[in-house]
Amino acid sequence: MSVIKIENVTKAFDNTVAVQDFNELIADKEFVTLLGPSGCGKTTMLRMIAGFEKPTAGVISIGDRVVNAPKTFVPPEKREIGMVFQSYAVWPHMTVFENAAYPLKIAKAPKAEIRRRTEAILQAVHLSQYGGRVPSQLSGGQQQRVALARALVCEPKVLLLDEPLSNLDAKLRESMRFEIKEIQKNLGITVVYVTHDQTEAMAMSDRIIVMNQGVIQQVGNPTEIYRRPVNRFVSDFVGKVNFLRGEAANGRIELTGLGQSAPYAGPCSGKVVLAVRPENITLSAEKPDISGGVLTGSLMSMFYLGDVNDCRVNISGEILRVITDSHSFDTLTEGQNVFLDMKEFLVYEDTGAGDDTRIVT
Ligand SMILES: Nc1ncnc2c1ncn2[C@@H]1O[C@H](COP(=O)(O)OP(=O)(O)O)[C@@H](O)[C@H]1O
Ligand SMILES: [Mg+2]
Repeated sequence: MSVIKIENVTKAFDNTVAVQDFNELIADKEFVTLLGPSGCGKTTMLRMIAGFEKPTAGVISIGDRVVNAPKTFVPPEKREIGMVFQSYAVWPHMTVFENAAYPLKIAKAPKAEIRRRTEAILQAVHLSQYGGRVPSQLSGGQQQRVALARALVCEPKVLLLDEPLSNLDAKLRESMRFEIKEIQKNLGITVVYVTHDQTEAMAMSDRIIVMNQGVIQQVGNPTEIYRRPVNRFVSDFVGKVNFLRGEAANGRIELTGLGQSAPYAGPCSGKVVLAVRPENITLSAEKPDISGGVLTGSLMSMFYLGDVNDCRVNISGEILRVITDSHSFDTLTEGQNVFLDMKEFLVYEDTGAGDDTRIVT
């Protein structure tokens, strides 16, 4: 069993609190991602799990063993973890086989066993036919798979990955997501993955832990995080979003300064912030017959992106981003009046606390 239990973990560097009172239980064979902007404490948290960094306070356990506590410290090499970093960190003078086999050689495994296990792991990362090459004869993605093989060859219970795909080009990054997922499933290991890329986090994770300034903002599966972000920071970080201020009363939200309102059946009243994702707004040239009504505005600009049409709509001076079907590019014209139907939105209480404003519905 490779459950990871993190209890009240704090890490301070001089005056910087990198991680603050972190609590989470990561299940056996779970794929969990730490997601957040640069500097929010992701790497520090991962390095504490690995044993490269000691917590200022708190307890970390891997399986049924406490690895960090006020009077306990298990060194990294005794934690049965594998780790892969952003830089490929493979040895240039060694072949792919030698790189992957290295941890077994250090552990003084018998020769036949080294061969058998290294061949098996090279097969798992689809590098069997490259065993004799040196890293300079490989692509970036292949080099990162060598690093992955080396991290996995000792059959760790836990694999820690710190932005492992950031140095790869976009297409390769996408295909590597699926490969890492597949390897994790086939080997049945627990993965803690670090990224600042929300799409990557959504594509790969069972659960995502969203962090900001060392503090966990929300923990949930990708749909929960995307559809029910608990505060403005999360809704902004995990996707694109328009925020509109308003006043909720009598089943409607009167949008501040716009002279328009939207139907709203939720429990909130008084000052609110309405959050609507660009893809949850439908644009039309003709006024649709929708009970409760729609917003009206003027189509400022359109950007044809192939798969979608990325629009900006001016509603009484407020600019809304709307992402619609790419075919709408042919039927709409910049400058024309349009009707906006907000199919799905969230309402946050406007406490004046900015990003921390909590979700109401
Ligand atoms: N060794 C260190 N000494 C001092 N400050 C550090 C050290 N490592 C990280 N920090 C600080 O801790 C914060 C979190 O850093 P980090 O965990 O690397 O964030 P992330 O991986 O999310 O970008 C940052 O403010 C960073 O400057
Ligand atoms: Mg980092």
